[in-house]
Amino acid sequence: MTTGEPVPGRSYVIAHLPGDGIGPEVTEVARGCVDAAAARRGFGVQWRHCALGARHYLDTGEILPGEVLEELRKTDAVLLGAVGDPQVPPGVLERGLLLALRAELDLYVNLRPSRLRAGVDGAVARHRPGDFDIMMVRENTEGLYAGAGGTVHRGTDFETATEESLNTRAGVARCVRYAAGLAAGRQGRLTLVHKTNVLTHAGDLWLRTSQEEAEAAAVTLDYAHVDAACLYLVEDPGRFDVIVTDNLFGDILSDLGAALTGGLGLAPSGNLNPARTGPSVFEPVHGSAPDIAGTGQASPAGAVLSAALMLDHLGEREAAADLDAAVSGVLAAGVPAGTRAWENALLASLTAVPA
Ligand SMILES: NC(=O)c1ccc[n+]([C@@H]2O[C@H](COP(=O)([O-])OP(=O)(O)OC[C@H]3O[C@@H](n4cnc5c(N)ncnc54)[C@H](O)[C@@H]3O)[C@@H](O)[C@H]2O)c1
Repeated sequence: MTTGEPVPGRSYVIAHLPGDGIGPEVTEVARGCVDAAAARRGFGVQWRHCALGARHYLDTGEILPGEVLEELRKTDAVLLGAVGDPQVPPGVLERGLLLALRAELDLYVNLRPSRLRAGVDGAVARHRPGDFDIMMVRENTEGLYAGAGGTVHRGTDFETATEESLNTRAGVARCVRYAAGLAAGRQGRLTLVHKTNVLTHAGDLWLRTSQEEAEAAAVTLDYAHVDAACLYLVEDPGRFDVIVTDNLFGDILSDLGAALTGGLGLAPSGNLNPARTGPSVFEPVHGSAPDIAGTGQASPAGAVLSAALMLDHLGEREAAADLDAAVSGVLAAGVPAGTRAWENALLASLTAVPA
């Protein structure tokens, strides 16, 4: 592939949803990196700004208006920063925007790579780059986050609150199928993480489905209870290649993975619609970090690595590898002190990548 003008047909419409706090700061850097890689690899990107998030909600009362959702559906991908503000009560944006996007756009896989890179201080001193390179695949639309449940007898001694975990065969199968396919392209090792000894109904469905999908994809299937998996991530992360798990376990396990590989500032994620019936949404794992917003201290690495996942999903493998290599190269040379230093180092690295 040579450098040059965008090739007709290789042009993408990407929604930029910066959100709040450090979201705009880190996604601005990620956008610059995508533009640099696009110029290098010969494809075009048209950005569409999308002003959702806590600030927009406080200003207008809107969370996810129908017409904005329809505009998002017309894009090839969404690059999201982070949403949240101390003035907005918990749950409003999580349910009204983030979970709603997952449901509306059928983003049934949450992909969270967890990789210790050279130059990064992991939380466990004996972990070495290469020991820790795990793809975590979290089911993203069902389980305990499906929204089933409710409260009765509110405010009385008999107030009862229930949250129900929904697990459909089709929903589990499509998630595990994605994970098994991912494992087939890596080391061929898939680990189901669940709690089958206690959550016997859902656990049985997950286990049988995983066995079928692993066999179909010709990958080996291993199993770990979620509590044991936490221990193994610390003690022996090399035993994992691709992990597949349900919504709640994946939420928790992937944050542990992030903590063990350099912290929230480095961790990327993709909310994927592998069936490609609409755009997928890519976002760093961290939140809006109001404590450091506007100070120039935010690491844009998680956002840039999320943009790399986005390019990979769009089929721009070389550009994705460029962004990934740029982050690795910058880290190996010494973690930059602040957003601007990160941006300069990344752009210098990207323009130096031989095409
Ligand atoms: N997907 C999302 O948009 C998302 C995810 C998590 C939290 N939130 C929201 O973000 C707000 C703040 O939440 P929180 O404080 O619990 O989590 P947070 O991830 O925003 O911050 C946790 C800690 O990590 C630090 N940190 C986070 N990202 C960093 C980065 N890129 N570089 C350097 N340091 C970084 C912060 O300064 C803070 O000390 C809340 O409103 C919460 O609801 C949003």
